[in-house]
Amino acid sequence: MSAFTRPATTQPQTESNLPRSSFLTATPLYLAPMVTLTHAGVRHLIEEYGGCDRYYTEMISAEAICARSEFRRWYLDLQPAPERTMYQFLFRDPEAVAAVVREVADRGALGIDLNMGCSAPHIVRGGGGIAWMRRPDEARRAVAAARGAAPHARLSVKLRLGEQRAIAQVAEFAEALCREGLDELTLHPKTRGEPESRPADWRFVVELQERLAVPVNASGGVTSVESLRRKIDRFQPAAVMIGREAVRSPWIFAHARGEQLEADRRAAADRFLELLSQYQPAEFHPTRAKRFFQYYTQPLRWGARLFQALKKYTTLTEIKEQIHEYFENHPEDRFPNERRL
Ligand SMILES: Cc1cc2nc3c(=O)[nH]c(=O)nc-3n(C[C@H](O)[C@H](O)[C@H](O)COP(=O)(O)O)c2cc1C
Repeated sequence: MSAFTRPATTQPQTESNLPRSSFLTATPLYLAPMVTLTHAGVRHLIEEYGGCDRYYTEMISAEAICARSEFRRWYLDLQPAPERTMYQFLFRDPEAVAAVVREVADRGALGIDLNMGCSAPHIVRGGGGIAWMRRPDEARRAVAAARGAAPHARLSVKLRLGEQRAIAQVAEFAEALCREGLDELTLHPKTRGEPESRPADWRFVVELQERLAVPVNASGGVTSVESLRRKIDRFQPAAVMIGREAVRSPWIFAHARGEQLEADRRAAADRFLELLSQYQPAEFHPTRAKRFFQYYTQPLRWGARLFQALKKYTTLTEIKEQIHEYFENHPEDRFPNERRL
């Protein structure tokens, strides 16, 4: 029997079934899938700061898993909270997605998310991510194949707007996918080519939700607890994914719940490095450390300079020493005095 649990029909929220983020709001808060970032090490770090309602793995190539990649055990690791973790798969054809869904069905994940939103040029060229929006019939077949492979799995898709800053294209695409048995969707409301600097427009999440019977989660642009609260108050999405800000401040979910925990940026950096070496293969350490610190250093006064310095190192020990030196020179950056609700 599959270990997946498909959601029951939407229940009214009562005090006993409110999600963990209920101090701030009944809106569930999720860690967004981020390649090279949302591996088990980072998920453990966030869990040690109190965790979030749901984790996503980084996007995992379905084809690589089916080809028995030597790194598959690291990619498929669901720790620290399998029952709150969705696998996210990147794939190029419906058969691959059906095969991978069958492959992971008994691993105890919360469910499966299909990546139809990634806009990285090499992924799009290969026919994955947002390229699926150009092949709506095949995309429908992919969702149907995933549903057929795991009839009881919680199944979702993560999307972007597509080519235009308008709702029509993505709504038509999403409606067709829902007819194949999706349980929910996430919209990162930006077009394929929009630069990182342009803010995600959550009005499109509201518009999509008005057209679909399944919950639509919002992703993009949460930069603080205050911005999260403003967005939830205004747009009331089914759930919110937090991506880069959860790397800059792994305690953001705890702060959103009103927990008064003291964040120590040097201690969190040390802990991240320990967890990285524990939960990722040595071959991945330098690149994953650098990707993490690209975001983690952003709130620091001289963060850009620190990140430039870190880029030249190849061992975690060197990275750690450089970080310690930074906090010795800039002790004011060590305990971020974040405003709380
Ligand atoms: C480094 C990085 C890697 C990402 N990788 C993925 C991914 O693997 N799958 C996915 O669906 N989205 C991916 N995204 C998009 C995020 O899930 C999210 O939608 C986006 O960062 C906007 O949210 P934010 O403003 O909270 O960061 C990635 C984003 C970044 C910055």
